[in-house]
Amino acid sequence: MTHLSVSNVCKSFGSVPVLVDQSLDVEEGEFVALLGPSGCGKSTLLQIINGLVPADRGTILLDGKDITGRTGAGRGMVFQGADLFPWRTALENVAFGLEVMGVGKAERLEQARHYLHLVGLRGFEEAWPHQLSGGMQQRVGIARAFCIRPSLLLMDEPFGALDVQTRDILQDELVRIWEAERKMVLFVTHGIEEALYLADRILVFSKRPAHVLREIVVPFERPRREEMKLDSTFLELRREISDLLRHDIHA
Ligand SMILES: Nc1ncnc2c1ncn2[C@@H]1O[C@H](COP(=O)(O)OP(=O)(O)OP(=O)(O)O)[C@@H](O)[C@H]1O
Ligand SMILES: [Mg+2]
Repeated sequence: MTHLSVSNVCKSFGSVPVLVDQSLDVEEGEFVALLGPSGCGKSTLLQIINGLVPADRGTILLDGKDITGRTGAGRGMVFQGADLFPWRTALENVAFGLEVMGVGKAERLEQARHYLHLVGLRGFEEAWPHQLSGGMQQRVGIARAFCIRPSLLLMDEPFGALDVQTRDILQDELVRIWEAERKMVLFVTHGIEEALYLADRILVFSKRPAHVLREIVVPFERPRREEMKLDSTFLELRREISDLLRHDIHA
């Protein structure tokens, strides 16, 4: 069974502790959102799980394997602002991970085309990143992460810089793809509504050094609908999380 297990991760930058004994688990097929104040250590945690930043201590297990400090292997990451290679076309950007994994050209381009179409970019295979809008670049970033068929998707405010309409569309696309492939998702956001709309479970982090203030199992059935945002339980939870974050910042 697929499973992510983060145990007792510690990380300081110089004398500043950012993560102290941070532990969390994500179960097979689970969508977990992380909320927390700016600078509390969310991106650092994602980067450590992705192997891009070394932890001072602690272990990361993915599907039972120790992946602490290693990149690749089962993880796809979507960064805020997409972070595409400007010298590669949209299709080549999506195929990048498979290329690194040594997949042959015909096979990787076919896979990349499939995911590019899935995020609604049919016809833009040969476009360069600078020819795409911010929202389209973000879609390419999502397709790139899905294309390696990771068991774990790490998403760091993937929709943070987008306009509301594009964000709503991409949220629904993300859920659609996630439901089809049932990956584990760890999704960082500042949007309380976004977290409630997308996630099975929400972890609310404190200010730095981050610890979990509250864990919320989101009680809404899937498929989620726009109308749920007017539901009284939704509004209560939104209020509760917002109060929690506000009090913590001033504590
Ligand atoms: N490479 C680095 N060198 C030094 N300090 C760093 C580095 N990366 C992050 N930090 C510090 O670690 C803390 C946590 O940063 P991080 O980017 O993880 O926060 P975050 O929760 O993702 O915030 P935001 O919501 O604003 O994206 C901050 O105080 C930041 O200054
Ligand atoms: Mg961040």
